[in-house]
Amino acid sequence: LERTFIAIKPDGVQRGLISEIISRFEKKGFKLVAIKIMIPSKDFAQKHYHDLKERPFFNGLCDFLSSGPVVAMVWEGEGVIKYGRKLIGATDPQKSEPGTIRGDLAVGVGRNIIHGSDGSETAKDEIALWFTPWELVSYTSNAEKWIYGIN
Ligand code: GTP
Ligand code: MG
Repeated sequence: LERTFIAIKPDGVQRGLISEIISRFEKKGFKLVAIKIMIPSKDFAQKHYHDLKERPFFNGLCDFLSSGPVVAMVWEGEGVIKYGRKLIGATDPQKSEPGTIRGDLAVGVGRNIIHGSDGSETAKDEIALWFTPWELVSYTSNAEKWIYGIN
């Protein structure tokens, strides 16, 4: 099954949205296979967002990500990379649909509470950056046969 990296950013943690966000992924039927809370260093934040280093907001973005605790997670499931982004909603919460995490819970583009990998390559890279292999737990959940069926 596919895996994606999801992080609750410092604003989401400080606003008490950890359980709300986890709940949306869990209720959908995705499976949590890694989780931890940490304060990333600025250097670590720059590594995470290296693709954006030419953007004018890069420095502020990395300062923000390293400004407090982040809940780092790996979620597993069929189509979880693409559908995880759908659950999260558009980058700018002003444009995110109601019903999405950012649409329902955030207002500003620089404080959009959650990150999700944007493709299979970035998912692989981000999981490797944030987690060691032995922090990832492979297991079958009892609900899987009810979520996917048998065929
Ligand atoms: P992530 O899941 O956090 O990677 O967001 P994303 O994939 O929806 O957007 P992207 O990777 O393009 O940008 C990363 C983060 O930079 C966003 O989540 C925003 O917080 C921030 N960002 C993106 N565009 C802008 C912008 O135009 N202005 C500001 N201030 N921040 C931006
Ligand atoms: Mg992104």
